[in-house]
Amino acid sequence: MNEMTSTQAERAFPEGFLWGSAGCAHQTEGNNTNSDWWEHELAPDTIAGEPSGMACDSYNRFAEDWRLVAESGQNSVRFSVEWARIEPEPGVFSSEAIDHYRQVIGTARDLGLKTCVSLHHFTSPIWFAREGGWSSDGAVELFRRYVREVAGSMGDLLEIVSTINEPNIVASMGYVAGYFPPRQMDLMASQRAIANLIKAHAATVEELRAKANVTTGLPLSVMDYVAGNDSAEAQQVLQGVRHVMVGVWLEALRTGWIRGLAVPDVEVPGLAGADDFIGVQYYTRIATSPAAMPAEASERDDGAPAVEPYGERTTQMGFGWHPAGLGRVLDQIAEVGLPLIITENGIATDDDEDRKEFVRLHLEQVLEAITRGVDVRGYYYWSLLDNFEWNFGYMPKFGLIAVDRATMERVPKSSLRWYGSVARANRLD
Ligand code: FCB
Repeated sequence: MNEMTSTQAERAFPEGFLWGSAGCAHQTEGNNTNSDWWEHELAPDTIAGEPSGMACDSYNRFAEDWRLVAESGQNSVRFSVEWARIEPEPGVFSSEAIDHYRQVIGTARDLGLKTCVSLHHFTSPIWFAREGGWSSDGAVELFRRYVREVAGSMGDLLEIVSTINEPNIVASMGYVAGYFPPRQMDLMASQRAIANLIKAHAATVEELRAKANVTTGLPLSVMDYVAGNDSAEAQQVLQGVRHVMVGVWLEALRTGWIRGLAVPDVEVPGLAGADDFIGVQYYTRIATSPAAMPAEASERDDGAPAVEPYGERTTQMGFGWHPAGLGRVLDQIAEVGLPLIITENGIATDDDEDRKEFVRLHLEQVLEAITRGVDVRGYYYWSLLDNFEWNFGYMPKFGLIAVDRATMERVPKSSLRWYGSVARANRLD
């Protein structure tokens, strides 16, 4: 074996590091007809750019997708099972859907891939939306009933479970911004949804642990939130946004208490310290108030330089490149004391060289965080396929693999080979 220089050793990731790529049911499977998103896309007043339709037809092509992941050199894959398929009517479970997902998970495992499965990724059954969705008090028990069924029928296959994907985005985009179903703009409904989503996560962990030997964590959208300008008002807005987007969730995971919302503070039994990890989903930096010109901005509240140019380089989503923000976010979340897994990070671009550079810059940040002592256990690139990007439709190209929209043929990009080689080597060159 070759001797490693110390710099080479510093470029190595910890043994057993998870290397994967991610997708989810609605964005890849196609024909998710019982879901609220399907209705949203087809509504007469829809704001969706185009309907998801067949998506990537992964409902039928998952085996090919998993084979491409495994052959590339990655050791893991993240995806979701679809509540709207498993429970198309309240309390009625589809054995066909359950058998299907047993095959989806089993096929990945047979290829040697560690699976990271979400039980909810933005979409809910239409009947759940009709009953009031996440802002209604019945939501937690309805979700618990579904999770109990999943735990009983496929718990033996589950390994890592990233319970409910970005519940902070569900609560903000769905109930404040009016941008995701149920398209509400109602702060109170959003705060009820936050509390219910935290309780639903706790119920999920409890139900899974009763029947399965799983590693669980809550995958949160965590942007590098900055004030944007130096005014006291901007600082106050920043603190408010941080609380509803990150703080309230992390505090609940740590202490079991949901605090500081417009609903009464409440302790969720069994939640404190129940998880094995926190999922970090990082894409960019967001100024919560209008940004001053970079030259005018001074020191940020966390001492980081404020002069990183805003949005100098942007992605197809309009997100600026801010790799250093990932390092800051990892430091902040590590304070909870749980291991971290980067359950999503990626770029929408037509330029595959940019994709490699973007991933490399973010992996540099991960390596530096690990060197600082942050316990990061894995990285999932978003996304495996060029898939349905919610209201943006099929325009943004996040994938390591292109999908021919006419034939559904998978066309691997050179970034798949590159990323797979990093994964296989478990180090950056
Ligand atoms: C995240 C979502 C994922 C995808 C990426 C780009 O917020 O979890 O489904 O849309 O953003």
